Amino acid sequence: MISDGFGTSSETLARDFIRSENGIENSWVSVLDGLLVGSTRTSSNSSFVTDSAAAATAFSCGVKSFNGAVGITTDSKPCGTVLEAAKAKGYKTGLITTARITHATPAAFAAHVVNRNMEELVALQEIGNNTIQNKVDLLFGGGKCLFLPSTDAGSCRTDDIDVWGIARSNGYTQISSKAEFDSLNVNTTKLPLMGLFASEHMSYEIDRSADQEPSLSEMVYKGLNVLNSNSQNGPGFFVMIEGARIDMAAHDNDPATHLHEIVAYWETVTAVHKFIDMHPDTAMVATSDHETGGLTLGIDPDYAWYPRALAPVKRSAASICSDMKHVPVQNRVEFVSGIVFPYLMGINDASQEEILSIVRASSMDSQICRRFIGQAVSARAHIGWTTGGHTGGDVGLYAYGAGTSDLRGSYENVQISDYMSKYLGVDMGPVSKLLANEVVRQPNFPYHQRVDDL
Ligand SMILES: *[C@@H]1O[C@H](CO)[C@@H](O)[C@H](O)[C@H]1NC(C)=O
Ligand SMILES: *[C@@H]1O[C@H](CO)[C@@H](O)[C@H](O)[C@H]1NC(C)=O
Ligand SMILES: *[C@@H]1O[C@H](CO)[C@@H](O)[C@H](O)[C@H]1NC(C)=O
Ligand SMILES: [Zn+2]
Repeated sequence: MISDGFGTSSETLARDFIRSENGIENSWVSVLDGLLVGSTRTSSNSSFVTDSAAAATAFSCGVKSFNGAVGITTDSKPCGTVLEAAKAKGYKTGLITTARITHATPAAFAAHVVNRNMEELVALQEIGNNTIQNKVDLLFGGGKCLFLPSTDAGSCRTDDIDVWGIARSNGYTQISSKAEFDSLNVNTTKLPLMGLFASEHMSYEIDRSADQEPSLSEMVYKGLNVLNSNSQNGPGFFVMIEGARIDMAAHDNDPATHLHEIVAYWETVTAVHKFIDMHPDTAMVATSDHETGGLTLGIDPDYAWYPRALAPVKRSAASICSDMKHVPVQNRVEFVSGIVFPYLMGINDASQEEILSIVRASSMDSQICRRFIGQAVSARAHIGWTTGGHTGGDVGLYAYGAGTSDLRGSYENVQISDYMSKYLGVDMGPVSKLLANEVVRQPNFPYHQRVDDL
């Protein structure tokens, strides 16, 4: 399990929030707190501050590569991943995320490209249109637009390859609605299976409508049971589960959205914990790829932070800024002062400067708009952020289940990979050889840059 962009202060933020809201005693801890076994050191080959691609490659291949690298070494050669090695040994495999399924973290377990933005090629590799066929038995997440040919209205591809159609002819059962998801019977559903529930990333938990998209924990509950019922005659299954948008909310310095993503991730850890209790021969290792935002709890001059300021926030800064594009420019001051601050953020003392900064940013860059909204809430909570990017601090390491008692202490990210491959009894070396001729460069790249969510 990977909680993307989740530092130790993120855990404290969410824990303090729950304590504060419920007035519960100071000994309350989250499900993750109960599973803490150590910490992970996160640097990549190219920087002390990693991105998600290099970090996920460290977890999947066991090699430190450069920022932006997906499943390739520093000399741009494909490296076999723990998922691919598990597949070669007869395990069933899965990827479950709230991001586009082609985004850096899931991609690094089943694709090999020199730049994380080559998501069109990633889509083809993930469904096995390459050296290793049908490598991922179960794919749940967002990003359906990368699978549709450019002739389709829902496409974000630049070519006319029908990846969705190729996957169907390769035997995948395919779903894309919440109703289809709900009707999946975990005992009888056969693999391979792909469920892509959003065109781009799935909704932030704070914005999600429960009848449109499943939550991460719902995807994981069904995913684990489908993988389990399909691996009765083999060694078992390997699945990577990502709480992807914890990171994106931190990029926006949007503390309430960050909080709701963390709570959704906790619910997912609880679902995995219950699964392991019912299937005690299963193990879970959970960590983060890096911290995001340089989140701190407390700013000058007080020794205090105020979790309650996060409670009234009803929507993500991302959805507020995107809605604002539909409000006529001359009505935006009224919209921000009359609706956004009082009703969507629970702030009744907004300054003229705060209102005007958001209105001005709404016509320019949407990340600036999102950060102004996030910072208005953060200021009232006394939360600090040092960056809209990542930081280099260590992150928590958590484990539960059969045979995980020897995982204790401080690890390099690549050692987490070594631990998993040893645990599963798989070897990535032969897979790397098999992949020697993999095409790792997307022919029509660069296309539009997706720089908003590193
Ligand atoms: C980065 O990779 C190169 C080539 O493999 C290696 O020589 C160098 O020591 C690595 N640097 C770091 C900081 O890992
Ligand atoms: C990949 O898909 C293309 C169709 O676009 C097909 O012609 C080709 O044979 C496929 N390759 C593999 C390895 O599956
Ligand atoms: C799946 O099988 C288990 C065990 O046999 C049973 O308890 C459960 O009710 C079944 N679920 C469904 C949806 O049929
Ligand atoms: Zn990030």
